[in-house]
Amino acid sequence: MNEKTLLSLAYGAAFTAGERAVAFSDLEALAPCFKSGDEWLRKNASEGKDGFGWLNLAKRNVDDIQTLSRWLATRESIVQVGIGGSALGNLMLHGALLPPYWNEIPKAKRGGPRFFMSDNVDPGDNRAIWELLNPESTAVIVVSKSGSTAETAANFLFFWEKLRDTLGEAGARERVIVVTDKDKGILRPFVDETGCKSLILPEDVGGRFSVLSCVGLLSAWALGIDCNALLSGAAAMDDCLAKTNSVLDNPAWIMAGLAYLHMKKDRNINVLMPYADPLERFCEWFAQLWGESIGKDGQGSTPVRALGAIDQHSQIQLYTSGPDDKFFTILTVAQGQKDIALPAAPEKAFEKLSYLYGKSMNELRNFEAAATASALSKAGRPVAALSIPLLDACRLGGLIQFYEYVTGLMGHLMQVNPFDQPGVEQGKDYTYGLMGRSGFDAQAQEVRTLSAKINERLVTV
Ligand code: PA5
Repeated sequence: MNEKTLLSLAYGAAFTAGERAVAFSDLEALAPCFKSGDEWLRKNASEGKDGFGWLNLAKRNVDDIQTLSRWLATRESIVQVGIGGSALGNLMLHGALLPPYWNEIPKAKRGGPRFFMSDNVDPGDNRAIWELLNPESTAVIVVSKSGSTAETAANFLFFWEKLRDTLGEAGARERVIVVTDKDKGILRPFVDETGCKSLILPEDVGGRFSVLSCVGLLSAWALGIDCNALLSGAAAMDDCLAKTNSVLDNPAWIMAGLAYLHMKKDRNINVLMPYADPLERFCEWFAQLWGESIGKDGQGSTPVRALGAIDQHSQIQLYTSGPDDKFFTILTVAQGQKDIALPAAPEKAFEKLSYLYGKSMNELRNFEAAATASALSKAGRPVAALSIPLLDACRLGGLIQFYEYVTGLMGHLMQVNPFDQPGVEQGKDYTYGLMGRSGFDAQAQEVRTLSAKINERLVTV
């Protein structure tokens, strides 16, 4: 890897033999589909088609986001209200690029504001967040593409009322930023009515693909993340993927192809296992991206989030010796965080640990990754090793663009629309019905009928 390397993919052990064989020649045979998929993504993105806009996010003008983030950075705390694609990307960026335990770090050392995410509808969580805030120096960002999601609406109603009660209408308005569609939903009229600050979520970008838009960038910038580097990494990745026309040179084609071929051979579980704590949230973000984008029409590949080395001591038994229904990606960071050299201990009882003395903690973790990949390979399980040279904003931007592209291409290979989410909308509509929203009576009735079926057989102990 040289200093310009964005990522590398080792996939010699990603093939299988026997009845459910997946061979390199199968991957090569998909070349025309990769090419047509790439054209499909780029043509629709350039025409501004619904859902395809993420492909161009890295090259869009972000001045208004940066300007607003400067004000946000002066706050003591930020609360973001949003869920799914309006939350997971932020948590992923912060988890990867900020020091761990961010909110616990003393202000002088931390620099940027504390950050709280209000995503689930949980009274305990929301109350606890509010109690940790000084309303005067807080900002609340409410993010919703549709501007109607019940969880986000409920959580925002809570914080909005608290702000209004404490600071009055004008004080509350000054502290709220709305990120939503330019005209859909109830949040845009709320902006017009109250005059609070707002940003427009690009129309052609779907929730789970929106991390490199104002959804992810606003809080990231305010917390001190170098968003220009993030975007330049994503743009550089896109340039690489756009210009490589051969399977051998295009890691995204290889990754999508392997996931597709294994899915077709009943390995329809896709395990992403980073050996880097800061990438734990990356798996959460990936799980939504992958699951919601390609789980369609009776097809799909189930994303599984694992974290090395923790899951090495929890899931590897299943992964190596359970059913052969998974495709694995082990993700490592070549040059980890500032290292710890393991100290020698004087106690006699520890003599047998001398093999660790003086060794690097980062090296130990990367050896664990190699051990897991080898154990999987020995068991005949398909495994790819993805590696980034270091975890900085540029490489993370590249990795985000890479996985978004892989997901879009996977949708093309499967002939499903990766940019809609009818299953999610169904759940939202049922919730509206149950909560008594007008126009959703039929949905409420349907839930009652389905619930009656669920409760038809009941056992209580
Ligand atoms: O990817 C998607 O579209 C969804 O998962 C949304 O992100 C999620 O449902 C939240 O929707 P919204 O941003 O409209 O409130």
